[in-house]
Amino acid sequence: MSASSGTNGIELALHHVGVRFGGLIALDDVSLRVPPGGIVGVIGPNGAGKTTLFNVVCGFVAPTSGGLTLDGEPFRPRPHRLTRLGIARTLQGVGLFQGLTVLENVMAGANHAARAGFAAALFGLPRSDRDERRLRRQALDLLAELGVAQHAAAAPATLPYAVRKRVALARALIARPRLLLLDEPAGGLSAEDIAELADLIRALPGRADGACSIMLVEHHMDLVMSVCHEIVVLDFGKVIASGAPEQVRGDPLVTEAYLGAEVPAATGPGVGS
Ligand SMILES: Nc1ncnc2c1ncn2[C@@H]1O[C@H](COP(=O)(O)OP(=O)(O)OP(=O)(O)O)[C@@H](O)[C@H]1O
Ligand SMILES: [Mg+2]
Repeated sequence: MSASSGTNGIELALHHVGVRFGGLIALDDVSLRVPPGGIVGVIGPNGAGKTTLFNVVCGFVAPTSGGLTLDGEPFRPRPHRLTRLGIARTLQGVGLFQGLTVLENVMAGANHAARAGFAAALFGLPRSDRDERRLRRQALDLLAELGVAQHAAAAPATLPYAVRKRVALARALIARPRLLLLDEPAGGLSAEDIAELADLIRALPGRADGACSIMLVEHHMDLVMSVCHEIVVLDFGKVIASGAPEQVRGDPLVTEAYLGAEVPAATGPGVGS
């Protein structure tokens, strides 16, 4: 449990990772590093391998070559062990529990120890009221931090998509991750929602309640350009460019790969900074 109690993010590194699906090479010799407290974005055109890379880090897909390290130690991800290692993720789309309120959804994201009282409450078992109250307070604080506390008692299905995405983010943050993995966080959001999300993401590594490193996989260039310290560009499974946003944006290889057209500017609609 020590991994989830520190104040700095974890360092994640991929070392020469390859993934093959039969004859198809989805990732080819991919190396990247997410430094403690860093925000690293992985972008690329359709089919470039972004989701595959995300799935490798979450343990849904095993690399066929190469490997990963977490704070320099060899790391073989398993989806059910991520929380314990201090890693949280939000999935593409939203994936909230429809039978629970917004507040209960966030409480359900807590780690096992914190959640024990809450689970007992759900099933009508004896429990520690104090633990449950503490967890409830944390969940409410997080919802407030993300600007959606007024929806705490609502059923997720009744809420706008952008609000549900924030609830999903709160659910990931309540476990106090030291590494946060975001899969297409801007997907389905309007330009205005994306600008607000960018502000939220930028603030995450410096949160008083637990700093974290962030890796995000995203199709939206504008979000990535405005929040990431470093960007890794994939095309046909290979890293074709990496570096600071302005470096990557000026790279002709990226311009060519990305939609075969002009790369949208970081100050385009919806970024707001
Ligand atoms: N489970 C799988 N079995 C076989 N091929 C797969 C599998 N998952 C992905 N692929 C293939 O691997 C390549 C990379 O796919 P991936 O989904 O990682 O790309 P992506 O960058 O996420 O694309 P998109 O922007 O469309 O989401 C594609 O050619 C895809 O068809
Ligand atoms: Mg994808």
